[in-house]
Amino acid sequence: MNTIGIIGAMEEEVAILKEKMSEVTVLEKAGMEFFKGILGGQQVVIVRSGIGKVNAGICTQILADVFQVNAVINTGIAGSLKAEINIGDIVLSTDTMQHDVDAREFGYEIGQVPRMDTRTFPADDRLRETALQVCRKVNPEIQVFEGRVASGDQFVADKETKEKIIANTQAYCTEMEGAAIGQAAYLNGIPYLVIRAISDKADDSAHMDYPAFEKEAIRHTVNLVENMMKAL
Ligand code: ADE
Repeated sequence: MNTIGIIGAMEEEVAILKEKMSEVTVLEKAGMEFFKGILGGQQVVIVRSGIGKVNAGICTQILADVFQVNAVINTGIAGSLKAEINIGDIVLSTDTMQHDVDAREFGYEIGQVPRMDTRTFPADDRLRETALQVCRKVNPEIQVFEGRVASGDQFVADKETKEKIIANTQAYCTEMEGAAIGQAAYLNGIPYLVIRAISDKADDSAHMDYPAFEKEAIRHTVNLVENMMKAL
């Protein structure tokens, strides 16, 4: 049976999914609790990675090494980088990149880790197609987009930073883990997908919108991820 790793950075992003699991066993490693069990008829390992790229990369490597997962899904919330992507809408990653990697001094483009052969990490088409179909069915009241996800160790909450990230990445949304999960999945040859619901617009209103809309955004991703497990 295939095993799917499901990563959320924050407890709020995975708590409801964990409640819906059965046959649960727990393993602790690197300060993270890995919940192995069944969700929607699918064998899964659900884990809160902690916030930021380093935590997310470590978490993905543990899913690869210890649980030998066949796919990784990253679920959570993000700031919108496009006017038409509203709070509550969902973005499915076509690929991910790090907006805060900068070795231009050596001729690399923004996002490219020196001496790596790519600056973007393509997500899995089959996972994305499944997520798209399921999302349209279970979350009909919101829009679902497919596009690039830009990650960095930064909560983006001002217009200048937002515009810079858009210019450098052409991404649809920004968050703090997706590209680290993408990079780890790429290095391990594991299919992955980032699923993010928009909690704010990554601008000067972000600090107000984020707490207000976090819960609603998470409801949409939880609904999607649970039903996606039934469809895989
Ligand atoms: N996650 C949710 N909103 C975000 C933002 N504006 N910047 C970074 N990560 C986020």
